[in-house]
Amino acid sequence: MASKIGHETQPHFSPHQRIRNMSETASPCDGRPEMTQLHPPPQTAANVESLEAYQAMYNESITDPDGFWSRMGKELVTWHREFDTVSHGSFAEGDIAWYLGGELNVSVNCLDRHLKTRGDKVALIWEGDEPGDVRKFTYRELHREVCKLASGMRDAGVKAGECVALYMPMVPEAIFAMLACARLGAPHSVVFAGFSADALRDRILDAGCRVVMTADQGVRGGRRTNLKKTVDEALLECPGVDLVIVHQRTGETGPDVPFVAGRDVYMADLMAKARPYCVPAVRNAEDTLFVLYTSGSTGRPKGVLHTSAGYLVWAMMTHKYTFDLRDDDVFACMADIGWITGHTYNCYGPLANGATSMLFESTPLYPDAGRYWDVVERHGVTQLYTAPTAIRALMKYGSEPVQKYDTSSLRVLGTVGEPIAPLAWNWYNEVVGAKQCTIVDTYWQTETGGHMLTALAGVTPTKPGSATLPFFGVKPAIVEPDTGNVIEGNEVEGVLVMQQPWPGMCRTVLGDHQRYLNTYMTAYSGNYFTGDGAIRDMDGYYWITGRVDDVVNVSGHRLGTAEIEAAVVNHDACVEAAAIGIPHELKGQDIFVYVILHNGYEPSDDLAHELRDAVKEGIGSFAKPAASNIVFVEGLPKTRSGKLMRRILRLIATGEESRLGDVSTLADPAVVPAIIAAVKAKR
Ligand code: PRX
Repeated sequence: MASKIGHETQPHFSPHQRIRNMSETASPCDGRPEMTQLHPPPQTAANVESLEAYQAMYNESITDPDGFWSRMGKELVTWHREFDTVSHGSFAEGDIAWYLGGELNVSVNCLDRHLKTRGDKVALIWEGDEPGDVRKFTYRELHREVCKLASGMRDAGVKAGECVALYMPMVPEAIFAMLACARLGAPHSVVFAGFSADALRDRILDAGCRVVMTADQGVRGGRRTNLKKTVDEALLECPGVDLVIVHQRTGETGPDVPFVAGRDVYMADLMAKARPYCVPAVRNAEDTLFVLYTSGSTGRPKGVLHTSAGYLVWAMMTHKYTFDLRDDDVFACMADIGWITGHTYNCYGPLANGATSMLFESTPLYPDAGRYWDVVERHGVTQLYTAPTAIRALMKYGSEPVQKYDTSSLRVLGTVGEPIAPLAWNWYNEVVGAKQCTIVDTYWQTETGGHMLTALAGVTPTKPGSATLPFFGVKPAIVEPDTGNVIEGNEVEGVLVMQQPWPGMCRTVLGDHQRYLNTYMTAYSGNYFTGDGAIRDMDGYYWITGRVDDVVNVSGHRLGTAEIEAAVVNHDACVEAAAIGIPHELKGQDIFVYVILHNGYEPSDDLAHELRDAVKEGIGSFAKPAASNIVFVEGLPKTRSGKLMRRILRLIATGEESRLGDVSTLADPAVVPAIIAAVKAKR
């Protein structure tokens, strides 16, 4: 918890609290009929013949990883110089590296190498906020745009190795910017354009960025957001930034779109003057491609660092096999480029594979609940990739909005970001897919670069709510939370770890390798710790049960409770705060905050609103808890050693106080009835 008086607490890492009591039922699969519902793939795949072929390939990837990844690396990547060493290092040492000695440029792999064979193929389809507002770019056109921007950036002094911050809406220029950075060998740090000025400032400072790329405004769901204004606010405290490249999405001028002469330049002006070809920088396999900030159990968000070759191979492989990629596909990932899903499945995976990738600026509900299906019909989308939170929101409108459109082009329906309940899975499968599509529930993380557990479309029989089986090269294990002992066999539950390094994994936390080791490598020594709990069922299928640490997933947005607490404590009235995640019908999880006020402050609805605004300011609107989820208390349940008992706070927030058990060992057991009363008073 964050506190103004106490010291910053240690990780409240206690996965055993979050894993069901094993003795409650004989098997974690009992009472879950979905675990026996095997759906055979409705069609066959182009890239893998059968489940047996997957198994043979998978076995090879585990028993001879170097042989397997050497072949894949040679097959998939266009090298400037081929690698000498396939893999290096171990989890225990935290020094993983892939394709050493190899040299490449990722933008060449996404663009130049396609020009001869698919120069006129559409690389990017942009569907703007208003239906039918469409821009398309062939590979040749995209290459030219990226080259012009990269040349302009080079002219403006951007150098290989320097980290460039991107705060961009979902427009083609965001992809130009990412690929231009890759061309110059300048790692990008994309900051989701929903983050607040404070959050942006922290990320710019952490990565030491000198250059920021943004847009005048963002447009989404019929509303405009003043991105440039937010950037300028953030930059008040970023003295190191001396260049801001502004794309004019709306062309708006005036007080909402400030422009600082001498520091700011319009992207179009920069590109107009620049050479239409830009020599790509030669990068080593392990050079940084990008940094992406994500939340963990404790402290500030961390800049997860991905490298060039290993990440590229992973993005290409997973995109190709999970989605059964074919030449004429129109692949639509509905994510935002501010998150890893947008990086891997809007930009790098599809473009390196020479596919047609869609970029969607709007929301599933704008102008109405038929928007996705309208997009599918108009563009002939073959794979749709979205999040359970969107599926849940759409389900509410029933089948009518789907049936208004011709969605028969769809072959694969993907989901990512949080567990999908069988109800939503079945709706996706039956109403959207008409039982003709494979549902691929892809489990992975910012840190993993791409899919880890997933069905392969057309290959893997699926079950509603299961991420099914491991991807090539992924060796999952379930361990006992307390001992770390591997639990063998099926029908077991525990903490999910990975036992073998894979090319797409992140290599470090920017500027803090020790934090990388502490977070991922030391909890279960010799393994990569995912932070998630999982069940392996009777067929060896994996079911993610959710985070076992203090990470909350709100509408697919990953947030650390520590960040939320820090934002709340920033308010003068607040002395201490404890945030938890509670289940929410549409969002998956919602944030619930217990607040202790300073003497002299009285609880009130107005104050609750101010504290919500403090979260908006510290993180962004998307993290704002409901007013009813801010509860003022006099004390928090702590052990005698000062450890906060979040389990108690969770049970009280969800009205399950009857399951609290013995609380007499708390430092002050009397806080418990007082908290129960405070929560009840809110209802
Ligand atoms: O808890 C898992 C959940 O999202 C976390 C990773 O969040 P982030 O790094 O923001 O990446 C999201 C997009 C890859 C995981 O630790 N998660 C992700 N996918 C699934 C999931 N939980 C269940 N099923 C999934 N398919």
